[in-house]
Amino acid sequence: MAGPPLYVSRLLPEPVMSMLVARFTLTARPTIDPPTPDALRSGLSVAEYAICTLTERIDATLLDTISGLRVIANYAVGYNNIDVAAAQARGIIVTNTPDVLTETTADLTWTLLLATARRLIEGHDLVHSGVWAGWEPTQLLGTEVFGKTLGIIGMGRIGRAVAGRAAGFGMSVLYPSRGVSREPDVPAIGQAVALEDLLGRADFVSLHVPLTKETRHLIGDAELRRMRPSAILLNTSRGPVVDEAALVAALQEGRIAGAGLDVYEYEPSIHPGLLQLKQVVLLPHLGSATLSCRVRMGMVCLENLEAVRSGRPAPNRVTAVPIKEKGPPDSPTDPSSS
Ligand code: DGY
Repeated sequence: MAGPPLYVSRLLPEPVMSMLVARFTLTARPTIDPPTPDALRSGLSVAEYAICTLTERIDATLLDTISGLRVIANYAVGYNNIDVAAAQARGIIVTNTPDVLTETTADLTWTLLLATARRLIEGHDLVHSGVWAGWEPTQLLGTEVFGKTLGIIGMGRIGRAVAGRAAGFGMSVLYPSRGVSREPDVPAIGQAVALEDLLGRADFVSLHVPLTKETRHLIGDAELRRMRPSAILLNTSRGPVVDEAALVAALQEGRIAGAGLDVYEYEPSIHPGLLQLKQVVLLPHLGSATLSCRVRMGMVCLENLEAVRSGRPAPNRVTAVPIKEKGPPDSPTDPSSS
């Protein structure tokens, strides 16, 4: 029997697609590439349920053109691609995929940290080029990791998982005492210090905040100038958290030593300056990119759709303003996370 209409914006890994097809009727054939704005609108306009990814911008203008949509399950923990307030005002539930990608993204952050510090890509390229002539005492000298100081900006689930791994490297962990940690229920690891202090002391600064009005360009020229000339910046959160032009200037002028980036301000465009710099490791937004993690994310989306379908509260609902469904008045919002 055909299930209710579901729009899936992009092809998700198996067995997620098969499970969706067995339970719902797809309103469009999902593609590997992002849908065009017209395809997105037309797929959503006939759907009651939707799964979208971080590449689909869903704003009030788009929502005004559709009716009948009950829930958008965002296939990501970050949901800055959706105007949640506009959806909420139109009675559309928005959900995300917290927890299931925490450790996967923390692993990728450490991959970037080590690759940048130890010049992994330059070494790999040297060997592949066929011109490597053997060991040299001064070849590709990198930065020590063990015993250094790691600054975590955004001590939420992922920030905490990154900080937890630092114990194995004998590192001290610093995090900002106020302002940018959005998950008060997640116990912090390390020492709380003022953000300025963290920037001045950390050998590695790693970003784990959600993208909001407050965190856009959280790391700009002034913050980069506070960092040590030997420091490395890591970003696996959202690109616009860093002012990319200011970062390029800091790297070109040697005001910081390097950067490991998985996300970009104007993704998928990359600042041309970044592409010129050897001390920068650039990945194509791979934070959650393991098959098992992407399947778990799909299962979380499915659970949320099924909950709404059967009249239960969506377990991973995110809200812009407090919701007053069941529960006590002013029940807390589900905090966004990265
Ligand atoms: C997320 O979930 O927000 C990641 O950036 C994509 O997996």
